[in-house]
Amino acid sequence: MRIRRMTPGDFSFAVSLTDSEDWAYVENDFARLLGYEPEGCFIAEVEKRPVGLTTATSYGPVAWIGNVIVAEGSRGTGIGTQLVSTAVDYLGSVGVKTVHLASYVNTIRFYERLGFRQEFPVSTMSIDTTGFGSSDVDVAKETDLEQIAALDAAYFGGNRSRIIQRMWRDFPQLLLKTDVPAGYVIATCTEKSCEIGPLIAESGSPDAAELLLRGILGNVLADRARIFVPHANPRAAELAKSLGFEEDFRTMRMLNGEVNEAERTDGIYALGALEKG
Ligand SMILES: CC(C)(COP(=O)(O)OP(=O)(O)OC[C@H]1O[C@@H](n2cnc3c(N)ncnc32)[C@H](O)[C@@H]1OP(=O)(O)O)[C@@H](O)C(=O)NCCC(=O)NCCS
Repeated sequence: MRIRRMTPGDFSFAVSLTDSEDWAYVENDFARLLGYEPEGCFIAEVEKRPVGLTTATSYGPVAWIGNVIVAEGSRGTGIGTQLVSTAVDYLGSVGVKTVHLASYVNTIRFYERLGFRQEFPVSTMSIDTTGFGSSDVDVAKETDLEQIAALDAAYFGGNRSRIIQRMWRDFPQLLLKTDVPAGYVIATCTEKSCEIGPLIAESGSPDAAELLLRGILGNVLADRARIFVPHANPRAAELAKSLGFEEDFRTMRMLNGEVNEAERTDGIYALGALEKG
């Protein structure tokens, strides 16, 4: 078994492997992940055949590991452990102090053995969007991106500006913002899925968060949308439920390394994605 870096030639393998768990990726999702972290996406091979993968995404001192998956016939032989260790070591080598991930309930022990600790549950919730009309919440312009990235950093506790720029380029109608109180929301919609997040509201303002969430639900074209709600902000699940979101399943946010003191979960109403925070 060997672990090597992912290349664009691996995208179709990555989609077919993640399809086996219904993770709803398209090749472009992996192109974006590899673009964010060219040295931090890994493929496990056995006899030159790809059998597993993981992706890491770093934002300065804080990072996420996602897409930890091994083909069914190759599980239980240490490949998953080596993939996660490789990603953690890589992140350490680029100066990351805090590594997060979202674990299924049944893989918590697997990550605990790798040194991760449990933080708080994250609910994956979904909703039928058809009842939401178009809104007058502002669509962000390119000149807004710097301010949005600064707001995001104040709550997320890391620098996601390259992600925000890229999302705005790929989904320009799906980045909405409010000014007072400041807030923003992004949706990522492909032919397979539509995910809402990050959703950040200054001072944790539930009114701004609700305006943004209603606004983005009115703007997305897909009939259903998902959101990843952190229980560290109790108002986030309350808001999602009040609009009609229903929980599909829960994951556990986990941590390896130092607590990120710069994170302020009271303003975080939705994570960006399970695989990259
Ligand atoms: C989770 C996963 C990546 C582990 O990969 P792997 O190559 O089988 O892992 P390893 O062989 O290194 O370690 C397996 C250990 O973790 C435990 N484990 C792994 N996955 C588990 C699961 N889904 N449920 C319970 N235990 C699990 C195994 O029992 C084993 O413990 P043991 O060594 O005491 O027998 C693999 O099971 C997988 O691809 N699952 C489907 C996708 C998934 O759930 N990914 C995690 C997303 S958060």
